Amino acid sequence: MTDTATSTKNAAERIAELRAELDAHNHRYYVLDEPSIPDAEYDRLFNELKTLEGEHPELVTADSPTQRVGGAALSAFGEVRHEVPMLSLGNAFEDSDLLDFDRRVREGLDLPAGDLFGGGATVAYCCEPKLDGLAVSLLYRDGQLVRGATRGDGSTGEDISSNVRTVRNIPLKLQGSGWPALLEVRGEVFMSKAGFEALNVRQLESGGKTFANPRNAAAGSLRQLDPKITASRPLEFCCYGIGQVQGELPDSQVGILQALKGWGLPISHELKLAEGVEACLDYYRNIGERRQALAYEIDGVVFKVNNLAWQRELGFRAREPRWAIAHKFPASEELTELLDVEFQVGRTGAVTPVARLKPVKVAGVTVSNATLHNMDEVARLGLMIGDTVIIRRAGDVIPQVMAVVAERRPADARSVQIPACCPVCGSQVERTQLVKRSKGKETLSEGAVYRCVGRLACGAQLKQAIIHFVSRRALDIEGLGEKSVEQLVDEGLVRSPADLFTLRFEQIVGLEGFAELSSNNLLAAIAASKRPGLARFIYALGIPDVGEETAKTLARALGSLTRIQQALPEVLTWLPDVGAEVAYEIHNFFGDDHNRTVIAQLLERGLQLQEEGELHAEFAAATTLADFIDKLNIPFIAATGARNLADKAGSFDGVIALSQDWLELSVMKGLNDKAKQSLREFFANPDNVARARAIETQLRDFGMHWESEKKAVAGLPLAGQTWVLTGTLEAMSRDMAKDKLEALGAKVAGSVSAKTSCVVAGPGAGSKLAKASELGVRVLDEAEFLGLLQQFA
Ligand code: IVH
Repeated sequence: MTDTATSTKNAAERIAELRAELDAHNHRYYVLDEPSIPDAEYDRLFNELKTLEGEHPELVTADSPTQRVGGAALSAFGEVRHEVPMLSLGNAFEDSDLLDFDRRVREGLDLPAGDLFGGGATVAYCCEPKLDGLAVSLLYRDGQLVRGATRGDGSTGEDISSNVRTVRNIPLKLQGSGWPALLEVRGEVFMSKAGFEALNVRQLESGGKTFANPRNAAAGSLRQLDPKITASRPLEFCCYGIGQVQGELPDSQVGILQALKGWGLPISHELKLAEGVEACLDYYRNIGERRQALAYEIDGVVFKVNNLAWQRELGFRAREPRWAIAHKFPASEELTELLDVEFQVGRTGAVTPVARLKPVKVAGVTVSNATLHNMDEVARLGLMIGDTVIIRRAGDVIPQVMAVVAERRPADARSVQIPACCPVCGSQVERTQLVKRSKGKETLSEGAVYRCVGRLACGAQLKQAIIHFVSRRALDIEGLGEKSVEQLVDEGLVRSPADLFTLRFEQIVGLEGFAELSSNNLLAAIAASKRPGLARFIYALGIPDVGEETAKTLARALGSLTRIQQALPEVLTWLPDVGAEVAYEIHNFFGDDHNRTVIAQLLERGLQLQEEGELHAEFAAATTLADFIDKLNIPFIAATGARNLADKAGSFDGVIALSQDWLELSVMKGLNDKAKQSLREFFANPDNVARARAIETQLRDFGMHWESEKKAVAGLPLAGQTWVLTGTLEAMSRDMAKDKLEALGAKVAGSVSAKTSCVVAGPGAGSKLAKASELGVRVLDEAEFLGLLQQFA
C-alpha cells in the first residue's frame, strides 16, 4: 500500500470511530436527555472529525454528524408523494365526545357492551400529548435517512430532506439492528418554549422578524430554502407513528413506538398505555394540569387503539382514522377584533397602550382587554384599530395580542397614535430618552416608553405610587386597599406619600367603607408602619428599576439612607447586579428636588428607619484597583488594559502619575498606543481627575480596601468567575448555594451574559437557562453542581 492509501485507511477507521461515538453521545443528549460527556469533550471529538473530513473530502457521507450544519440553499422545494396518505384526526372537546368515540370503537369491533353494573370489554389506548408543531415524514432505507417531507395536503408534500438533517434529535442513521429495510417514520417537528423565547430574543437583537408562537416559529424555520437557517433554529422532533414499511414491526402501537425508540428515534416522554376510556380521561386531566409546566406547547392529547389488528379492522372514515382521536384542551389562542386602543398611566408615568377587544372566550375565560406594552410593540405588530388580531392567554398569564391578521384589515382601519397630553392630568407626554454610557461617552437614543411629565401632580401616578408605598412588601399598611387610596387622592386628602402620616380621624371617617372602627384601625396601621426597615423603605419609594432585591442590596451594602442618597452612580455599579442604567436611575431619583422634599417630609412626620448603621464588608470585597480603572470608562481601556495598568502602577495615584509620564508610559507593556494616548488625555483633564478622586474617596468612605481584598480572593478556586443560579435546588437553598460559591471566590450574579462562567440550573429553570444555551455558557444541573462542591470540600 502507498503512504496515502495507508493514511486514508487510518483516517477512514478513525472517522468511523468518531462518528459512532458522536452518534451515541447525540442520542444520549437529545433523545434520552442523559448527557454523558461535557460539551467541551463533545466539541473536541466533533472538531477532530471535521478536520479529518476536511483532509479527506472523499470520505464525507451524508450521515456524518458534521452534515447537520445545512448544505446548499434550494430555489424551490421538490414534491413528495405520500405512499400512505398523511391523515388528520377527529377531535373531542368534551368528556362525552371521548366516551362516544370509545363506544364507536367497541361497537366497530363487536366487543361486548357493559350494562348498568359495568362490565363489558375495555379497549387499551396508546396515549400521547398532541404536540403543536408540524407533521413530518422521515424515510429510512436500510437504516439511512434518505428523505424528509412535510404533510402538504396529505397526499403530496414538500421535500425538506436537507432541512430535517439539521434537526439535532433526528438520527441520520438508525441505531442497533432489526429495523425494516424501508421504514417511514412520522412525527411532529416543534420548538420548545425556551427555544422559541431564545430565538425571538435573537431575532429582535439582529433586527429579524419575531414569531407569534412556537408553532409558527417551527413552521417558518423548517420551510426554509436555505438549510443553514434551519440549522440555526432550535427545532426538535418527536415521532408518533409510521407510514410505509417493508419488514417486520411489533403488533401494537406502543410496541412500535418502543421499537422506534430502540433505534434511536425520539418518542414522547409522556407515552402511556391506558386500559379503557376512564383511564384515558385521567390521562387527559393529568396532562392538562401539567400543561403549563411542560417544556413545549401542546393543544391536547391523542388516543390511539393500541392493538394494530383492531386498527386495521376499524379502518378509516373520510380522511380520519376510526381508531384514533385528538382530545383537545380549550384553545389558548382566538381571533377577535381590536375595537380601540386606550392609554393607561402607570406608577412611573409610563403611558401604556391597552387594547380594547371585542370580548372573546380564550381558554375558558372572557378576554376584553390586553396590554400592548409600548408603542414599539404596536409598531412591531403593525396594529391598526379595526384589525382582527390573534389573542393568546396561557395559564394565568395576562392576555397578549400576538399578531394581526393582515388579510382581514377593514378599509376604515385607523392608526394608533400616542396622545400629546396625559389622559389623566393633561400634562405633556414625552418620549423617554435612552442614555447609553460607554467608555466616557453618552449616546442618546429614543426609548420605547412615553411618560407623562406630571409625576405626583398626575392623579394616576400619585395613586399608583401610594398603592405601591403601602403595599405588603413595602410599608405594609393594612386596611389601605386600592379603592381607599383612590378615594383619599380624589378627595384631595393625600397629595404625596408623606400626607398619609398627617391624616386625621375626621378626614377619613365617612369615606366609603370607613366607619369609626375602620378609621381608627387605619390610623393605627399607619402609625405602626412608621419604623420600616431600610430595604423596605427604599423599595417603597418606587425608584424606577429598583425592585425588592436591589433595595435589599442597597440597604445591606450601604447601611444608611444618607449613603444611598449620596452614592455616585459609578460607585453604585460596584454593587452586585447594579448596572449603569439602574445606578443612574437611583442617582437621578435622589437628585430630584421633589423626591428630596417628599423624603424630608416623611422623616419630619415621624418616619424612623430601622436597620441603619454599619457598612457591609461585601461592598469592600467586590473591589480591585483594576476594577476601579475599568469602571472609570476611559476610552480604549478595557478590562485587560485596566488590569495591566493596575499591576504596573500599584495605586490610583500611581496610575495618574504614570498617565502623565510619557516616557515611562511609552515603554509600558500590555497597553497599546491608542490606549496610552487616551489614558494621557483622560487624566490631563482636571474634571476627570476630580471625578475619579471623588469616586475613590467615596469608595474609601464606604469601606473599600482594594489591594488586600484582591489577595484574599485571588487564591480561591473560582476566583474571577461569575456564576448564575436559576430554577429550584433541592439539596440546599439558593442563599446557601450562593454562600458556597462566594466562599470559593466566585461572584454570583442575577442575570446571564456572555461574561457568565457557569449557570447552575435546577428544575423549572426558564429564560436564564435558555439564554445560557443561546450564548453557549456552561450549564450544570444540581447533581453536577454538588459534585463540584464536593471536589473543593
Ligand atoms: S397521529 C392518523 N399523534 O396532529 C394519525 N398526530 O390532527 C395522524 N399531532 O397532522 C396523526 N401530536 O401533526 C398524531 N401524538 C400525535 C400527534 C399528532 C401532534 C398532529 C399531527 C397531525 C395532527 C392531526
